[in-house]
Order: sequence, then structure tokens, then C-alpha cells
Amino acid sequence: MFQNQEITKDVFYVGVNDRQKHKFENMLPLPQGVSYNSYLIVDEKTALVDTVDIAMGDIFIEKIQSQLQGRTLDYLIINHMEPDHSGSLKLLRKYYPEMQIVGNSKTLDMVYGFYEVTGKTLEIKDEDTLVLGKHKLQFHLTPMVHWPETMMTYEITEQILFSGDAFGCFGTLDGAVVDENMNVDKYWDEMTRYYANIVGKYGSAVQKALKKLTPLDINYICSTHGPVWKEYITKVVDVYDQLSRYETNEGVVIVYGSMYGNTELMAETVAQGVAQAGIKDVIIHNVSKSDPSVIIQDIFKYRGLIVGSPTYCNELYPEVESLLSKIEIRGIKNHIFGCFGSYTWASAAVKRLTTFVETMKWTSAEIMVDEKQGLKKDNYQACLELGSQVAALVKSFKCDPPHCV
Ligand code: FEO
Repeated sequence: MFQNQEITKDVFYVGVNDRQKHKFENMLPLPQGVSYNSYLIVDEKTALVDTVDIAMGDIFIEKIQSQLQGRTLDYLIINHMEPDHSGSLKLLRKYYPEMQIVGNSKTLDMVYGFYEVTGKTLEIKDEDTLVLGKHKLQFHLTPMVHWPETMMTYEITEQILFSGDAFGCFGTLDGAVVDENMNVDKYWDEMTRYYANIVGKYGSAVQKALKKLTPLDINYICSTHGPVWKEYITKVVDVYDQLSRYETNEGVVIVYGSMYGNTELMAETVAQGVAQAGIKDVIIHNVSKSDPSVIIQDIFKYRGLIVGSPTYCNELYPEVESLLSKIEIRGIKNHIFGCFGSYTWASAAVKRLTTFVETMKWTSAEIMVDEKQGLKKDNYQACLELGSQVAALVKSFKCDPPHCV
């Protein structure tokens, strides 16, 4: 029944859209959904590149059957084992018991570990090739983009890079599959949010992969999420290059937690100080209202981060603590930091924020504002000064080699 879209002659898109899931990895909101991309190459031998989330397994199998029209599936190439891509592996094996599963040694360990599937596997090493007929595949191991087993598959004849998660983004495919046939505006912000939250920890691995791919001529990038890139390949590679080098724009993100408005007033005042010092991009997030994935996205975009928190049960405000944990585990580099806090009878928040910036090895403003109860004149001025100091550091920032990628 299905008429699958052809990317080039004999290479078909057989992926699916997920408009049902509310949160990717049960954490990250999907206001525009997400696609799980899979590609079928029909030649003397047939090969499928990656599968899809098992929730869409039935429709996925039907799409493959429609294309193969009774032929068997010879190979399943696994670029990435995360279950949003490997989820239908076991189901596929039931329909195509003779299919060979192609992956590197780490992939095949995970094939057993996740699904207890063994036998009919083909272990490949870096730069090995597999001939399907006219189409020839070459495998490039790219560990930690985004898991240790991740690899990319390069189709030599038509110069198609099947890139796994790399160059992917959130957002469903709404009719068309290849970028030249759609308006791609909605994907750029979702690419940054996707990268920052999913791949963001692995900047140096992404840089290594980009260098490794440099000699390849590429006509199409077929990622596992989002459009097939043809017209916008240069832009997409630039986005991933900039983000993985932690290259940021001149701007300041101010994140605060506040129960009764006192810390919030400090945040507003700090923002005024930043703006008065000539920074035009000032983004304020109430940590209890903004989604953390959007805050992380903005932190990846902008060089300055100022965090404010009340002291709560002799600790940081829990929502702020949770955000700091999300920043720490991603090992975000090359930022300018400032902090402020408020307390009622005993101060603890600013101390914790100081420890945080030491852990991150970021440059910090000297001034830290710690107000007892409501904001008063001296600390009002100090908040303006904090904003101004961070702005000056952001403007004069030069990447410090030990922390640059
Ligand atoms: Fe889309 Fe790392 O999986």
C-alpha cells in the first residue's frame, strides 16, 4: 500500500513520524514531534539502514514490505543502537530471519544486550566496505556521537552519508522528506535544542567525527531524525561544528528561582545592568516556568550565564539545583558566569553557586550578590554592577585553550 519516497534511485525513505510521544527520553518536550528515520537500499542485495521505535514497528514493517514486494531483506545496517533506532530490530528479525545484522563489535554486543538476538551477524571494522551491487557502503566508526558504538555509513556511488544522530533535529517530516522540497525554518531552533540536550556532552567526539568526514564528498546527509539534507548541507554541518566547539554568541542568559519575588527582582536588576553595558541579547528564564531543555539550548547559544537562587532548607532552591545538575552532566564549556541569591535567616545558595562555577572551570565575575530578605539599595546597585561585570567579560571573552575544543 505504501508509496515510499525515493531519495535517489533505489534509496527509499521508510521512516516514521511520532506525533504521540510527549517527551523524548521521557524528559524533553516534543511540541513539533519527532521522526525516526530509516532508509532502504534496493539493489542486487537489499539493505536497511537503522530501524525505528518499536511503537511504530507495525507500520514500519509494512513500509518495507511495500518496497521489497516479496524480496527478502539481506542486511540490516545498525549505525546506532539507542532504542529509538534499534527498537524494531527483533520484530524485523521475525519477518526476515535470514537478514544479516551489520555492526561493529560494540554494536553487536548491544544487539545481544538489549534484545538477546544472536547469529547472522556481520562484524565490520572502521572503513570496511560492503557491496550491494551498484551501491557500495563504507563504514566509519564515530564513537560517542552519541553512544560508544555509533558509526556512520557512507554510500560511495551516490555519495550519501547515513549519519545516525549526527545532523539530526526534533520535528516531524510533514509530507516531504528532502530539505529542498519543504520550508525548513521550523527545524533550526529544534536542531539546537536537540544537539544541546542529546549530543551536547560529546563536543570533542563530534569534532573528531567532523574531521574524519572532511575528505568525503557528500550529496545527501540522511540522519536518523529530521529532514534529509541536500540543499542545506553546509549550514547543517556549520551548526554542528559551532555547537560542538562550544562557540557562543554575545549574549547573557539569566536564570532564577523565586518563591515570593525577591530573587526575581534581583534578576530583573541584573538584566538591566547587562543591557546598560551594551549586550542586546539578554534572555531571562524563570526556572519554575521555562522548560529545562529550552534553558540548556539558550546556554549553548549564549556566552554568559547568571544564576540566581534563594536559599531553601539550607540548600539551593531545588529547581535551580536540578538545572545545575543538567549543566554539569553535559560538561558545557567556555562560559562566563555570575550569581546572586537571597536568604531569610541563613545563606547557603550563593556558596553552592560558587562551588558550581569552580567545578565547571568557567570564568566568573568577582562580584556575587547575596541579599538578606528583600532587595535594598546597596544590593540593588550591586546587582547592576554584577550585570555590568558579566557583560564586560562576555564582550572581551577569548577562548581559553585548555577549555576550548
Ligand atoms: Fe536518536 Fe541517540 O538516538
